[in-house]
Amino acid sequence: MTRPSDEGRLDGPAQDAPDSGRGGSGRGVEPEMDPQSAVLGVADLTRTFGEIVAVDGASLAVEAGELRAVIGPNGAGKTTLFNCVMGALAPTAGSVYLNGRDITDDPEERRPHLGMARSFQSNLLFGDQSVLENVRLVVQTARKGAFSLDLFRPHHDVGRDRAAAIAETVGLDADLGTEAKNLSHGDQRRLGIAMALATEPDVLLLDEPTSGMSPGATAQTAQLIQDIRDDRGLTVVLVEHDMDVVLSISDRVTVLDRGQVIATAPPAEVQNDQAVQDAYLGGMREEL
Ligand SMILES: Nc1ncnc2c1ncn2[C@@H]1O[C@H](COP(=O)(O)OP(=O)(O)OP(=O)(O)O)[C@@H](O)[C@H]1O
Ligand SMILES: [Mg+2]
Repeated sequence: MTRPSDEGRLDGPAQDAPDSGRGGSGRGVEPEMDPQSAVLGVADLTRTFGEIVAVDGASLAVEAGELRAVIGPNGAGKTTLFNCVMGALAPTAGSVYLNGRDITDDPEERRPHLGMARSFQSNLLFGDQSVLENVRLVVQTARKGAFSLDLFRPHHDVGRDRAAAIAETVGLDADLGTEAKNLSHGDQRRLGIAMALATEPDVLLLDEPTSGMSPGATAQTAQLIQDIRDDRGLTVVLVEHDMDVVLSISDRVTVLDRGQVIATAPPAEVQNDQAVQDAYLGGMREEL
């Protein structure tokens, strides 16, 4: 599997390490807050597939409004972690908390109603439908009551207007009528983000939103993610291979290696962490 993100490197632009980040210790695993006190908490989560331990006792405590990157070599368990957080997979052990509530056993379909949404590592779009229709379909199945106060307009119209506004947020306003399958790869990824936003989440999980994008589109998408967080006050968890993106937009970075969290710290500290560099060098050797 080729990775466009090979452009991004751990030895990217040097940054001054802050004295203390948002709870980062700078040495390996931070003393994170209690996952039950976080907006999104993961406590000692393990997921196995037969002999494979894809996620191995991972804990996270993502704070309100935080932009958290999750990085790690191929096969480190990032997508499996997301699948467990979103309820697509049941953890073998451990718990997931949203605003202090244990949601581990809540079915996947409930997650959007709880205020969680994700975009996928691969594009899952209704290819024959227009950009507007793709977003509108999500808007209309989103949290009940979101536009119930608008008594004077047909439901359909309101959904359409909201969908158009969301498409505009991600820069697809000129493509509302374009069939999803005819969008460029980068625009399909942006449509995936729009569809996640259409559920009006408080917590947004993005799995490799810039994969396969040109450097220009990658920078644009990084800016978009930052704007979404800033404008909507969302809590964002981002799996990302491009280290330039990770270093430039995240508040803290969690590093997974073979399913285990080996570091959580501000980006500049993670960049200089020996265990992280070793994990990446190991991962790259396996890929060669
Ligand atoms: N459904 C599954 N059945 C069996 N093994 C799986 C399954 N999903 C993931 N795995 C294995 O679990 C491990 C973690 O995979 P995962 O996809 O979570 O890694 P990742 O960090 O997202 O990797 P990438 O960077 O390539 O996207 C890998 O060894 C993978 O082969
Ligand atoms: Mg993955």
